[in-house]
Amino acid sequence: MGEPTLLGDDIRIGKGVTFGQNVIIYDGVEIGDNVTIEHNCIIGYDRITHLRKDFDFPPKPWTTRLGNNVLVRPNAIIYKHCKIGDHSQICSGVVMREFTELGHHSYLGNGTCVEGYTRIGNHTGVHTQVHVTAKVIIEDKVFIAPLTVISNGFTINWQRPHVPSEEIGARIRRGARIAIGVKTLPGVEIGQEAVVGAGALVTKDVPPFKIAIGVPARVVGDVPESERLRD
Ligand SMILES: CC(C)(COP(=O)(O)OP(=O)(O)OC[C@H]1O[C@@H](n2cnc3c(N)ncnc32)[C@H](O)[C@@H]1OP(=O)(O)O)[C@@H](O)C(=O)NCCC(=O)NCCS
Repeated sequence: MGEPTLLGDDIRIGKGVTFGQNVIIYDGVEIGDNVTIEHNCIIGYDRITHLRKDFDFPPKPWTTRLGNNVLVRPNAIIYKHCKIGDHSQICSGVVMREFTELGHHSYLGNGTCVEGYTRIGNHTGVHTQVHVTAKVIIEDKVFIAPLTVISNGFTINWQRPHVPSEEIGARIRRGARIAIGVKTLPGVEIGQEAVVGAGALVTKDVPPFKIAIGVPARVVGDVPESERLRD
């Protein structure tokens, strides 16, 4: 186990915290008890390219906080102003951009990237190599399978400042399940406990407790009562 490099004076580290080799911690980070941070991680990274203006920022002080019993696997980068709840796991190679909140007992799988300004709930699993764009809300007990991509920009205005573009991320309601390789267009809502089938392209809202599949995704049935959450 290693000693982290601390880049600042305002860093609080709880009891029973273990570090791998080459861990760098920036100023303003609070780490709870019994946290494990494995090799080559950067916590509280402050090289934010540009702070967005069109976001409902939480009240200051903005801290970067890892709760108790959090596990951070190798090569994860957690930017400044992120919050991770107790017992959550950040897997290898995750990039968690500024103002991402992950609840408790949740995880971000290997290679997943969350572009920030996003809230992810409790008991939620975001599996391997998922791309969560900025300004997304993912509620509790949601599951997102590998290689899903969630978009937010209605128009692609790259190099075209004269072209207006609004960014609205998806809202994924409690208990929804999203299968492998799904893509969502900006601003869609995936309803409570809805299921989106493998490879679907979601262009419109999916109502609660419905199953939608295909390109574009269409509702094909109801989530059986037997598969509904029990709490
Ligand atoms: C949504 C889902 C559950 C539907 O499965 P299902 O209800 O068992 O569907 P069936 O296998 O009975 O197939 C019914 C029909 O729909 C088609 N179909 C099934 N899933 C489809 C999909 N995702 N997209 C398009 N068509 C699909 C089948 O080909 C079949 O067509 P047919 O009647 O012409 O033969 C399934 O597609 C799915 O996404 N499963 C989750 C996979 C996953 O991501 N697991 C997580 C891994 S970490």
